[in-house]
Parts: sequence; C-alpha cells; structure tokens
Amino acid sequence: MAASDPTGRIGMGQSHLIEPSHSATSAARQRTLVDQYWEQHVVCSADFSTSRESEEQLQWRFEWYPLFREFTGLYGRHEGEIILDYGCGPGNDLVGFALYSRAKRIIGVDVSRRALDLAARRLSIHGIVRGRVELLLSGDSAERIMLKDDSVDFINCQGVLQHTSRPQELLREFYRILKPTGRSVVMVYNQDSVWLHLYTAFEKLLRDGEFPGLDAYAAFARNVDGVDCPLARCYRHEDFIRMCNEAGFHTDYVGAYLSKTELDSLDRSLHMALGDPRLPAAHRDFLKTLVFDTRGYPLHQGYHAGIGGVYRLYCWNKAPEEQHALAREAVVQTELADVRQQISQLETYCATLQARRDEIQDRCAELQRRHADLERAVEDLRQWQERVRSLPGVQLLLAIRRRILRLFAQLRNAVGRGQIGSSAHRHSAPEE
Ligand SMILES: C[S@@+](CC[C@H](N)C(=O)[O-])C[C@H]1O[C@@H](n2cnc3c(N)ncnc32)[C@H](O)[C@@H]1O
Repeated sequence: MAASDPTGRIGMGQSHLIEPSHSATSAARQRTLVDQYWEQHVVCSADFSTSRESEEQLQWRFEWYPLFREFTGLYGRHEGEIILDYGCGPGNDLVGFALYSRAKRIIGVDVSRRALDLAARRLSIHGIVRGRVELLLSGDSAERIMLKDDSVDFINCQGVLQHTSRPQELLREFYRILKPTGRSVVMVYNQDSVWLHLYTAFEKLLRDGEFPGLDAYAAFARNVDGVDCPLARCYRHEDFIRMCNEAGFHTDYVGAYLSKTELDSLDRSLHMALGDPRLPAAHRDFLKTLVFDTRGYPLHQGYHAGIGGVYRLYCWNKAPEEQHALAREAVVQTELADVRQQISQLETYCATLQARRDEIQDRCAELQRRHADLERAVEDLRQWQERVRSLPGVQLLLAIRRRILRLFAQLRNAVGRGQIGSSAHRHSAPEE
C-alpha cells in the first residue's frame, strides 16, 4: 500500500486530513489573498446532520445547475482508480465519488483548512473511512501538488482554477501527476455566458445600479463568489483550451452548464435588455445570437451558454508515440464504463423520483378522502343543528337564554352607573 501511495506517505491518525510535509508547509505558510479569502468563505457549507440530508444536497446541486451532471460525468464508475478532487472545498464531490463510484482511493486537496474540516465531518456522517479518502492541505503559492508523477487516474476540478493565482502552473502539475491514460474534467467560469452578458451586464449594472464604475467583466468577478473574492476569472473556451494544450493536454470543450439564476434572468430580463439602449453592444450582440434548445436552454455558437464551462483533458501524449493509440483506446473504454455507470445512477434516481411521486399521490388521495369525510361530517352537524333548533322545547330554551343574556347586560350597565354594590362585580355575563 505504501509503495503505491501517490502521496508517498503512509496515513497518520484517524482523521481524513493529512498534515502537509515540512516543505509543503513552508509554501502553505506564504498565505496569499486567495488562501485568506477561502479560509473565511466556504462554498455551500451547510452543516449536515444526517447522511440523507447530505445526499439530498448533492441532488439539489444537480438540479440547481441544469446540465451539470451530464457535462461533468459525475459520478462515473472509476473502477479501482485513484481520483484527485483538486479544490475539493467542503467535500461535495468527495462524498459523491465515495458513495457512487468504485474508485480505490479519493484524494481531496484544498487551501482552506476550514473547508477540509467540513469535508472530513461530512465524510464521517456517511461512515466513509480514512484510507479510501484522504484530505491534503495545500497553499495557493505552493509550487507542486503533493502527489507523485504519473500516479493519478482522474482529476476532478470544479470551479477552482479561475480563483487561483497560478492556473497555468496547476495545469502543468495536473499533467505531471496524471498517468498517460489519465483524464481530467475541469470546470472554469465561462465568459460566453448568460451570467456575464445578461445577469451581470444588464440586471446588476443597469437595472440595479450595482458595482458603480465597473464594466461587466470587472463586475462579474464580484458577482459570483462574493464581492471580496480576490480572483474570479471567466474564460472564452478557445483561450482555456490553449492553456490546457500548452500544459501538454489534448482538450475537448463540452459546453457550459447553466444555473437556475441564469434561466430565471432570461425569463425576467432578456427582452427588456435587448430593448435597452444603455446596454453596451458586446452584450446585446451576444444576447441576439442566443438560440434555445427544446428544453429552453440557451446556446451560443453551438455550445450551451451557462456559467460552468466544462473541459475534458487527456494526456495520452505522455505515452511513447507508438502507444498513443493504445492509451487513447484505454481512455475510451474507461469513459464508456463511466457513462454506463452514470446511466445506471440516473435510472436509480428516476426510480427514486417515481417512488416519491407514488408516495405523494398516495398522500394526496388520503388527504382528499379525509377532506370528503370532514365535509360530510360538517353537513351532518349542520342538519343536526337545524333539527335540534326546530324542536319546540329547544325554541323555548333559546328564548330563555336570550332573556337571561339581556338581563345580564342590564345588570352590567347598572353596575357601571354605580346603581348596584360592588359584590355584583363578581358576576359576569355568560358567554354567547
Ligand atoms: C468555488 S469553490 C469549489 C469547491 C468544490 N470544487 C465544489 O465544486 O463544491 C473553490 C474552491 O477552491 C479552493 N481553492 C482556491 N484556490 C485554490 C488553490 N490555489 N489550490 C487549491 N484549492 C484552491 C477554495 O478553497 C474552494 O474550496
């Protein structure tokens, strides 16, 4: 185990968190603004008390970001693989991989100790033990990821590189630690997005007057992960592909998944924005080119135009040239198995939704039955009251009751005027 350990170290203690080695600590000590920010701001850091709540949050995340699951392939089969979740935050995908994939080992790296503590807690809620999942604390200025060359099969990196000081170096590090048959799925913010051109450029800047003095590109950085987030870039896909290829990868752009925020913004504001002469031409031109797929999701130049730009990175170029084809074939087979696993997860989810729908329908039917029973009971009561009221003895009793009420009212008035002594105060009128 120790020999194949990609960290080159044997586990210590019971916690999922492995303390950095001395050299890594000195890098981690040069804390940048990025480190400081993420120590304070942990994304989606609900404190889950049950494993069910935690699993439901993963599902919510897929629902809040349409196409996120499809584009990223979360969570493939990864049979026997070593997975790195770079910038794992409080452990969303660590939990997902641990629960739904067949990965042998899952390593989470982040610069925020607070996020890693939350991740460790969340993993324990699921009873996921140290050994299968390890957490490593890094630093934004660290020169190396603390893993050996050619030791990792898959890197998941969701929404991280756009926040880092040295994304190009990190891509080179990804290339170094991945095996020649390795793959990576990276999400970085997409410049050709509804988030930038409508939600930020029109709704935030023009409609709400926020971020005075900034253009939409500068405002975008303050309108994603908090106004004080020190770095939040967005990339045009041609530029990000170039960066990945420069690091050695073969790179495919999948498209950019959406957020509900963007879909709501389109519903609310697309027509208003197009008719507003204050909107700069670059944003209007982008909005004019949008076309919509059958589900109403926007596309720009053939790609979905959400905030989450997803890229698939391959490193078969690392293999000797005569083995490229073999490495490529191995990758295709692995991806096929991943997709099959994803389909089976979606089928399970469909079955869960179906079961939930049946349960809700049963509860609706039960409530309708109770409603009908109660309506019948009310009607019975009304008829009974009418019958009782019409009895001659009851008529007399009601007349006496009315008379008594009148007498009590007269008595109260007399007491009020001081015509009767205080002992009368103790009497009060009967309720109607
Ligand atoms: C927007 S969050 C995404 C978290 C997680 N990947 C997810 O999808 O839930 C960005 C994460 O990147 C981490 N991060 C920022 N700079 C980093 C760096 N240079 N190296 C590693 N992680 C970094 C932050 O601490 C934070 O947890």
